[in-house]
Amino acid sequence: MTMPETTAVLREEHRRILEVTAALERLIDAGPPPDYDAIERCVRFFRLFADACHHGKEEELLFPELESRGMPRESGPIAVMLHEHRLGRELVSAMARALPGARAGDDTSTSRMVKAARGWADLIRGHILKEDHMLFRMADELVDGPACRRLCAAYDTVCASTFDGCTKAQLEALADEIIGGAPAG
Ligand SMILES: [Fe+2]
Repeated sequence: MTMPETTAVLREEHRRILEVTAALERLIDAGPPPDYDAIERCVRFFRLFADACHHGKEEELLFPELESRGMPRESGPIAVMLHEHRLGRELVSAMARALPGARAGDDTSTSRMVKAARGWADLIRGHILKEDHMLFRMADELVDGPACRRLCAAYDTVCASTFDGCTKAQLEALADEIIGGAPAG
């Protein structure tokens, strides 16, 4: 029997990542100058929640489980997802690098920051669409029964850990703070 729980936690995390991404776009659109502190909070959320907590579970737990069921790592959907995770890290780093200069009023840094933020938004939307509608559907078909329960227990362990000293609940509260403080859409 197929157990959709295999990807339920990850799908829920996608929803929150998309909400913070939409808030980031509204923050950028509201500038110049945008609320740099809020953009810095977005960077922190993407690094700790989207990358460490969420991509961490995909890369360390879900993808290896799918590989053990015959899905290749070097080609096909997993390879594409890993590549996009790397691109996402680069864009978030580019945003972080450009922030101090942008805050100081440097135009080049501001345009780099805006470009990286928009690049992130485009990338992550397409990425999550592919995962939700393709890879996760395959995962829900492939991983069921005891393997599904094992995987979910392993997700719980990661979710109960801390990310740069922050619990998942604190990062969810950070997301709420970002979303609540961003200009209305
Ligand atoms: Fe994901």
